[in-house]
Amino acid sequence: MERVRRTKIIDALKLEDFGRQINVKGWVRTRRGSKNVGFIALNDGSTIHNIQIVVDIEKMDPEVMKQITTGSCISVIGEVVPSQGKGQKVELQAREIEVYGTADPNEYPLQKKGHSMEYLREIAHLRPRTNTFGAVFRIRHNMAIAIHRFFHEHGFFYFHTPIITASDCEGAGQMFQVTTKNLYDLKKGEDGSILYDDDFFGRQTSLTVSGQLEGELAATALGAIYTFGPTFRAENSNTPRHLAEFWMIEPEVAFNDITDNMDLAEEFIKYCVQWALDNCADDLQFLNDMFDKELIARLEGVVRETFVRLPYTEGIRILEDAVSAGHKFEYPVYWGCDLAAEHERYLVEVHFKKPVIMTDYPKEIKAFYMKQNDDGKTVRGMDVLFPKIGEIIGGSEREENYDKLMARIKELDIPMKDMWWYLDTRRFGTCPHSGFGLGFERLLLFVTGMTNIRDVIPFPRTPKNCEF
Ligand code: 4AD
Ligand code: MG
Repeated sequence: MERVRRTKIIDALKLEDFGRQINVKGWVRTRRGSKNVGFIALNDGSTIHNIQIVVDIEKMDPEVMKQITTGSCISVIGEVVPSQGKGQKVELQAREIEVYGTADPNEYPLQKKGHSMEYLREIAHLRPRTNTFGAVFRIRHNMAIAIHRFFHEHGFFYFHTPIITASDCEGAGQMFQVTTKNLYDLKKGEDGSILYDDDFFGRQTSLTVSGQLEGELAATALGAIYTFGPTFRAENSNTPRHLAEFWMIEPEVAFNDITDNMDLAEEFIKYCVQWALDNCADDLQFLNDMFDKELIARLEGVVRETFVRLPYTEGIRILEDAVSAGHKFEYPVYWGCDLAAEHERYLVEVHFKKPVIMTDYPKEIKAFYMKQNDDGKTVRGMDVLFPKIGEIIGGSEREENYDKLMARIKELDIPMKDMWWYLDTRRFGTCPHSGFGLGFERLLLFVTGMTNIRDVIPFPRTPKNCEF
């Protein structure tokens, strides 16, 4: 085959110099036509759009033509011509086709359109080749870029916190252990407990549930930092919003109080959504047309709205009023309860009809590090609640007072010796500071309109599922 430099399909579709020879490469989406002329829809992942290849069948080797079926990979040299069909400006009149890889029509699993999302999860190794997942993963990339740009533009430093850790940030005991010990032959103490002195790190270690604690160390030195990395939770919740391995973005800022923290969260999330609207228009339009006719309007709405700021106690009152007025929730509502997604979504979708930042939760349902209010009952936590999602962000002002923090740690019986380095921030030059965690896949659920979190991460990890 003659050597012509490859053009990506996203660029080929923009060409206007008809007559030019170009080379495109990609995977065949469909092939149709008559005895004389064939039409191949070719996609290379650079865009949701296919380029149409027009083939004069008589001029081609029949053996090559036979191999061009859905899923096969080909390289085409041809002439850019104005398209006769509707929906595209240009197409390619093929001169030479090389088949890189065939895909047996009796075996290739992505033959027809309209496979169920459940089926596609079973072939997660191939689903990026569908329009839907191509769109989702291009948006996923764009959101990661938006996040780094936002923080960089705002003077935050990207700080890398460890993935293997010996402390449980959220104190919820939902950690995956990391060990090189032989599980068939565990060394145990007299009381039957496992001894870790001969384990790799010489102590019990796990995968991190959050980079926050190390993030606080960094914020009280560099001023404003963010983390963006994988986090792990061994919570056995098989829901459309939970993963065992998910990515989290955690900014932490010295001298920010909870109001600054809310302002940051609101500005940050609006920036990301606006970025998607500005940079992922074709993919969003596809998802809007195929799955969710209100998607783009909802994204535009969030950018425009001012988020409601609502103390927990008031939120409970609204929910109790709804119950009195006859609204049925699956889980009971009372002061002190941890809100379920149905409660959060009622506030956001039914009552306020816009995003809500809920604050000042009962201390019993929040982590040890949150700043304690003077009422002795609530802490300065904040959750950002979104339509369709529920909690998208969780954060707080941190308890910077050494004695108060110690009292809470004792109350909750958190192993102190593991926390000495964290407590040092409160012993040496402590300061007010705040931060939050945004679940990357929850943001993607919102931006793509997908309804199951397994469909916005390439290879989801959930209870009883670790394929690929
Ligand atoms: O509310 P969470 O547990 O907060 C923290 O981890 C804090 N240390 C964050 C901080 O203040 N720096 O988790 C933060 C966010 C949630 O709001 C949610 O979006 C997401 O992480 N999240 C999950 N996403 C997917 N699957 C799970 N199992 C998740 N658990 C939390
Ligand atoms: Mg939370």
